[in-house]
Amino acid sequence: MQIAIDGPASAGKSTIAKLIAKNLNFVYCDTGAMYRTVTLLAKKHNVGYGDTLNILKLMSEHRIHFLNKEDGQHVYLDDEDVSDDIRTEEITNNVSQVSAIKEVRTQLVQMQRDLANDCDIVMDGRDIGTTVLPKAEVKIFLIASVEVRAQRRFKENVERGINTPLKELQDEIAARDYKDSHREISPLKKADDAIEVDTSDMTIEQVVKRVTEIVNEHK
Ligand code: C5P
Repeated sequence: MQIAIDGPASAGKSTIAKLIAKNLNFVYCDTGAMYRTVTLLAKKHNVGYGDTLNILKLMSEHRIHFLNKEDGQHVYLDDEDVSDDIRTEEITNNVSQVSAIKEVRTQLVQMQRDLANDCDIVMDGRDIGTTVLPKAEVKIFLIASVEVRAQRRFKENVERGINTPLKELQDEIAARDYKDSHREISPLKKADDAIEVDTSDMTIEQVVKRVTEIVNEHK
């Protein structure tokens, strides 16, 4: 079974996808982490975020992969655990430029489909229901107001010792949504057959309950 969870930045996709995967004993795949890792790869090698040729060269020389550990899924760039390094503001603010590169998407989409091929999976991202897994049995489009999403990010950041002002986060989220939904290849878009869940006024438990109901209806 394939469960696709798409939606704009900081809508809670990964939190919900992880919990659903855990409850169902499915594999979880965070596709945003892959685009973030390619962005980190460019940064580490001083390659511009729009430099397609050199980014592709780096991708051919390095390996991105996931390892599941007790505390959750970790992302590796070759042998290095980059799970934290891909969450910095620098990566967050530049990932949309890298993810708009057609050839980067082609390669990562292939990896995502290969991953989904031989297991039950919950995959979250922007184009899972529309492009990566168009035949997914369950497609969820998670949304929340930009104010609520910025508040959630703000709270998460404070817990991690980051103090970016709320207004800055709100602007960053809106800018990233704009770029992700206006790019040429596989823009962020609700699939025609996706079910929209607005989480603005819902707790995590309520969202998990609602998504579980939807999954059960499709089993
Ligand atoms: O989900 P997350 O916020 O970590 O995603 C980071 C970025 O990766 C998005 O803003 C988007 O540019 C890109 N992305 C994408 N397609 C996906 C998942 C993420 O273009 N399936």
